[in-house]
Amino acid sequence: MASPTLAICTGPQSNLQGRIVPDTDDGYSSSNPLDSEDESLYTASVSSSIRAYREENGRTYSSFKEGSYLFPNDETENDRLDMQHAVFLRSLGGKLCLAPIPKDVQDVLDIGTGTGLWALDFADEYPSAQVTGTDLSPIQPSYVPPNLSFLVDDAEAEWRFRDKFDFIHGRMLTGSLGDWDNFYRQCYDNLKPGAYLEMQDTQLPLGCDDGTMPPTTALAQWSSNMIEACKKLNRPFHDIGSSHKAHMEAAGFVDVVEVEHKWPMNTWPKDEELKQLGAWTMVNMLQGLAAFSLAPSTRGLGWEREKLERFLVDVRKDVRDRKIHTYWLRSQQFSNKFTNSITRTPDDPRFFRHICSQPMNEL
Ligand SMILES: C[S@@+](CC[C@H](N)C(=O)[O-])C[C@H]1O[C@@H](n2cnc3c(N)ncnc32)[C@H](O)[C@@H]1O
Repeated sequence: MASPTLAICTGPQSNLQGRIVPDTDDGYSSSNPLDSEDESLYTASVSSSIRAYREENGRTYSSFKEGSYLFPNDETENDRLDMQHAVFLRSLGGKLCLAPIPKDVQDVLDIGTGTGLWALDFADEYPSAQVTGTDLSPIQPSYVPPNLSFLVDDAEAEWRFRDKFDFIHGRMLTGSLGDWDNFYRQCYDNLKPGAYLEMQDTQLPLGCDDGTMPPTTALAQWSSNMIEACKKLNRPFHDIGSSHKAHMEAAGFVDVVEVEHKWPMNTWPKDEELKQLGAWTMVNMLQGLAAFSLAPSTRGLGWEREKLERFLVDVRKDVRDRKIHTYWLRSQQFSNKFTNSITRTPDDPRFFRHICSQPMNEL
């Protein structure tokens, strides 16, 4: 049976309307606690070694599961993650997720929560929820609402949550995990029947629909280099966002709804909303470029830091170049876990009760 794929819907949050029209005006300026017996679990309060970050090339990295996450956990990167959270909200019309979860949702898990802003906002918006955010790094705020807790935990280890969840969320985990089938199996096993999983992600290669980013540009080369390096380091980036749906289906999720958006690299689009989104994306990219590139290039490709810095000068120029019409393809997938007791047929109204009964622009 074909799964419904929402590739197009209305509103600022959905811009996969085909090609984005470039602006030709050159004058523009622009508390679900884990089993504490489990060795894979550490809480920030009991393990000071977790706070002893490792330094490399002037940046700090998680010391827990050292080397497994390729991107820094320092203030510069954390500020960028906070700004990126705002970009997500902007591109989703202020929504934290698209899955039609009930307002009184209970147990919620945010895997790879980063600085925890999504989890904080979620706990605020859904006061009935008990939200748990997990991450390799304890970079989350200490003062949080009573319905939110953060745990240092490795999503690649076997999950030891005592209770199952009503909603599991993961955002921007591309490049974090090596075994996606294992991740989705654990998501499936840790959801209650009828509960939702939602992923929000991006991927490489960078998109370009009109040939304005030929392979000779530094930006196109950066995109290929990152793919090659992350593959060598077993943290694949290539087409990961658009492979989530297939991985979810392989784990047993059905009728996965997929929504794709384009985040323009800079202010090149004509459309005002996309132009604004592009401005935010450009700042995000310029701030994150060194962080994204350092470990993959030095560890994966064997580059010296100086060689990388010289290369990034040209990449930054391309990121700002409004004649290069490139974008990040961002995708979002959600599905709920059906009970075995429900006999599903394609036209069973219960099958789509949450999803298709809603107008697309309300998703
Ligand atoms: C790009 S950040 C995204 C953070 C957050 N989800 C957001 O959207 O702002 C990826 C996060 O995943 C975390 N991470 C990477 N590998 C992980 C793992 N194996 N287990 C738990 N967290 C992990 C990193 O420490 C980092 O904070």
